[in-house]
Amino acid sequence: MTGRAFPDSFLWGVATSAPQIEGGRHEGGRGVSIWDRYTDTPGAIADGTNADVACDHYHLWRDDLELMSWLGLGAYRFSIAWPRILPAGTGKINVAGLDFYDALVDGLLEAGIEPFPTLYHWDLPQALQDLGGWGDRSVVDAFVDYTDVVTRRLGDRIRNWTTINEPWCIAVLGHEEGHHAPGHKDPAEGLRVAHHLLLAHGRAARVIRERVPNARVGIVHNHTPAHPATDTVGDHDAARWFDGFFNRWFLDPLFLGRYPADAVADRIANGHLKGPELPFVQPGDLATISAPLDFLGVNYYSRVVMRQNEAGEPEAVKAVSGQEFTDMGWEVHPEGLHETLMHLHREYAPKEIYITENGAAYDDLPGSVGRIDDVRRIEYLRSHLSAACRAVADGVPLAGYFAWSLLDNFEWAHGYQKKFGIVAVDFDTCRRTPKSSAHWYRDVVAANAFDAVATPSTRGDSRANDSRD
Ligand code: FCB
Repeated sequence: MTGRAFPDSFLWGVATSAPQIEGGRHEGGRGVSIWDRYTDTPGAIADGTNADVACDHYHLWRDDLELMSWLGLGAYRFSIAWPRILPAGTGKINVAGLDFYDALVDGLLEAGIEPFPTLYHWDLPQALQDLGGWGDRSVVDAFVDYTDVVTRRLGDRIRNWTTINEPWCIAVLGHEEGHHAPGHKDPAEGLRVAHHLLLAHGRAARVIRERVPNARVGIVHNHTPAHPATDTVGDHDAARWFDGFFNRWFLDPLFLGRYPADAVADRIANGHLKGPELPFVQPGDLATISAPLDFLGVNYYSRVVMRQNEAGEPEAVKAVSGQEFTDMGWEVHPEGLHETLMHLHREYAPKEIYITENGAAYDDLPGSVGRIDDVRRIEYLRSHLSAACRAVADGVPLAGYFAWSLLDNFEWAHGYQKKFGIVAVDFDTCRRTPKSSAHWYRDVVAANAFDAVATPSTRGDSRANDSRD
């Protein structure tokens, strides 16, 4: 291995999620999800759209499989839609839903692409939300039953399972800040939700191990390193504060079997908790949550810069001058990926790490020959792969990388305005067109290295994007 190449066993993939690409809202017996309900709420989605059709992957999945084969991928991270499997959340199984994923998994395996499903990527059945959703402990039993149904059907062919995608987003964006479904603004509920998600992970992990021979189980966390804006004590404390609830609130229970004391104190100070006892934690929960994992999934997009404001409160500094930002307003900071991987390795020592999401939103229009020359995305991916590669050289057990995302898709509350795909989707026709980054990524995958691969524009390549040779 040279400094710029990856280990031979390195797994290259792309990631998607069911609510963002599938569509087929009313098809195949699918039930209603909290995101269906949320997108029906006027004003909830920036461009007034919904995900009823999205990329129509529900019908076009064979085309997407072909794209993945063309890319030469070794793995595909996708999510299974709970409301397709159990339309009412529990009880009656929708066989058509299981059939859909069964066919997808068979197709992947035939193409030599390892399926990496996520059981929960934010689409709770609305019927469970009506009973209290993730804020009510009974949801954990429902998740265990759902996991049982899925693994009974697919466990003979899938080895790698992740339980939950980004518990922080679910707890905070969905229940504290109200930017995501179900749109609640209740910090005390957010804390309960976070715990129930972790517990659901721990209990589901057991079920997966029971049902799946040689199962490998992980969870996906969105890791965001926090840096102080200046060297003052106040700014350092603001960074600690952010890290405490964004990162350690989830990683400490998973790896150390406890909630971080300083972050608990912060939550008491701001009134979200009444005292040091976490009322939602029952005996045995933390042991369940901290059962050993086979791998940790890391979603990395950016860092945050924190300062203490005049009122003495921690706040994120919006723009750091001289830095680049993607269309999400997220700073391009590849160094933070190296820092994150090193930090996780030192502090928590997961057996293996996968980068389960990394990518950038940029809206590039087709040029004169019809090519979408998304050079900024290529640069983003290249710089992050470089950081990942350095982490491997520095001893991090990084086993694979999944680019977010295969397709432009429904970016939650932003609708279709934020484009993360290496493949463009025309949302009128659902036609897929690989961008220059897809051609570039394909070469990276083939070479298992990134520095030898020129960007298509620098090698004078004037092919239109849809020529896939
Ligand atoms: C992550 C989500 C994923 C996608 C990217 C941009 O937080 O897991 O679904 O929206 O952000």
